[in-house]
Amino acid sequence: MSMTEQGHILVVDDDKAFRVATRTLLEDEHYRVSCAPNGEAALAGLEGESYDLVLSDMVMGKMSGIELLKELKRRRPDMPVIVVTGFASIATAVEAMRLGAVDYLTKPSNNEELLIKIRKALDLREKERELRMLREELQTTYSFGTMISQSDAMKEVIRQIQRVADTDVTVLLQGESGTGKELAARALHFNSVRKGRPFVAVSCSAIPESLLESELFGYEKGAFTGAARQRVGKFEEAHTGTLFLDEIGDVAPAVQTKLLRVLQEKSIERVGGSGLVNVETRIVAATNRDLELMVRQGDFRGDLYYRLNVFPIKLPPLRDRMEDIPLLAESFLQRYSSLSGSRVTAIAPGVISDMMGYSWRGNIRELENLIKRAIIKATGDTITSIELPGTEPADEISLQDEATGPGPQTPYKEYLSAITRHAEERYLRRMLKQYKGNINQIARLMDVDRKTIYRKMADYAIDPATFRD
Ligand SMILES: Nc1ncnc2c1ncn2[C@@H]1O[C@H](COP(=O)(O)OP(=O)(O)OP(=O)(O)O)[C@@H](O)[C@H]1O
Ligand SMILES: [Mg+2]
Repeated sequence: MSMTEQGHILVVDDDKAFRVATRTLLEDEHYRVSCAPNGEAALAGLEGESYDLVLSDMVMGKMSGIELLKELKRRRPDMPVIVVTGFASIATAVEAMRLGAVDYLTKPSNNEELLIKIRKALDLREKERELRMLREELQTTYSFGTMISQSDAMKEVIRQIQRVADTDVTVLLQGESGTGKELAARALHFNSVRKGRPFVAVSCSAIPESLLESELFGYEKGAFTGAARQRVGKFEEAHTGTLFLDEIGDVAPAVQTKLLRVLQEKSIERVGGSGLVNVETRIVAATNRDLELMVRQGDFRGDLYYRLNVFPIKLPPLRDRMEDIPLLAESFLQRYSSLSGSRVTAIAPGVISDMMGYSWRGNIRELENLIKRAIIKATGDTITSIELPGTEPADEISLQDEATGPGPQTPYKEYLSAITRHAEERYLRRMLKQYKGNINQIARLMDVDRKTIYRKMADYAIDPATFRD
């Protein structure tokens, strides 16, 4: 299709005057038009040509419009057909829709209505085509199990996983919260020779220190009050498989020492036990903390870090791989839309570009949650807006900001300045709201000069006019 050409339309009608008038109308709108006086001619013309849409009369000589429609749908199921009928034959129009026509028009037809219906049908077809392409991409090139990776950074992660999967080497997954560490650990296991073996995950931060040891290593009957039976720990459960030690940075020093011994000796001792049990298990550990820094600060054992960090894989934050957003959003849309039986099937391009400019402190998990919420809130079949936190100032500083704002990984000065700016912007907006954008009054109350207020408003992209009555 050339720049100006809007699409190739086949007009089928036995009425020559209608064909000529419609051709003129459509050509004026830059469509390319072909005409056929009956169904047989239309089908013959189908051979060497590709049409973007067919506009077909329903009452014609030998071959009826319904027969033509059936044949068109059989030969070109994706080609939209709009049928044109007389007032008297609404029943025919209904039948045509049932057989797969996208729309119908009644004669005498109104030019404007005709053009709108053609545009709509072509847009719909374009959208379906895009969706189908995305689905195919999802299923083939870019997926590694369920991991989406279109960006170079994620493709490199997948390559690393593939390289190390079939070895017994210990893998350390590091990355911010929500970057996909657990998903990567599962992908590693299920793409390795151990895939038919157990994958056992332990969240080291969710289990109290006092229980973690028996959870990991098991205990013998009578080891402590309440130990009525022997219990096998996670290491033994994962024998010949993979043990995923999640949130490894949160393990208390005493347990760190025991873990180190297991990694060195490849055997464990149950709590209250008297002998060693051999375990052969692949260790994958994950953390969102900076273990190296923790070692330097004395919060994590250096020798354990050394044992875990044999093959490190870093999951990049989402803000460093914005190219993954369209495909991630599409896959979450598909998943949650069909799970909830919703009819939302598309995301407006503007929403995608908004998302590509957002900071994603909560990474992929945050994206997932926002899409889930947007599906519920959507009124039509398309997500037309998304609530990106922070893009609209809230009235109060909440705990939420503490959790999603800059965290302890951020250097102190940067942290402080981010918090200060945030607070200052809120203060300024509240003043502007309360005093309806009266800069003189605000400057007096804040005890600064007006120039300062104007500079700050420009800095935070605040338009004072929006606060005036
Ligand atoms: N590449 C990806 N493709 C598709 N979905 C992903 C991808 N990465 C992460 N997800 C999804 O995002 C969510 C968060 O991922 P996951 O739980 O693996 O993160 P995490 O790094 O373990 O986070 P945390 O540190 O908070 O535990 C999950 O629902 C996961 O399925
Ligand atoms: Mg996790």
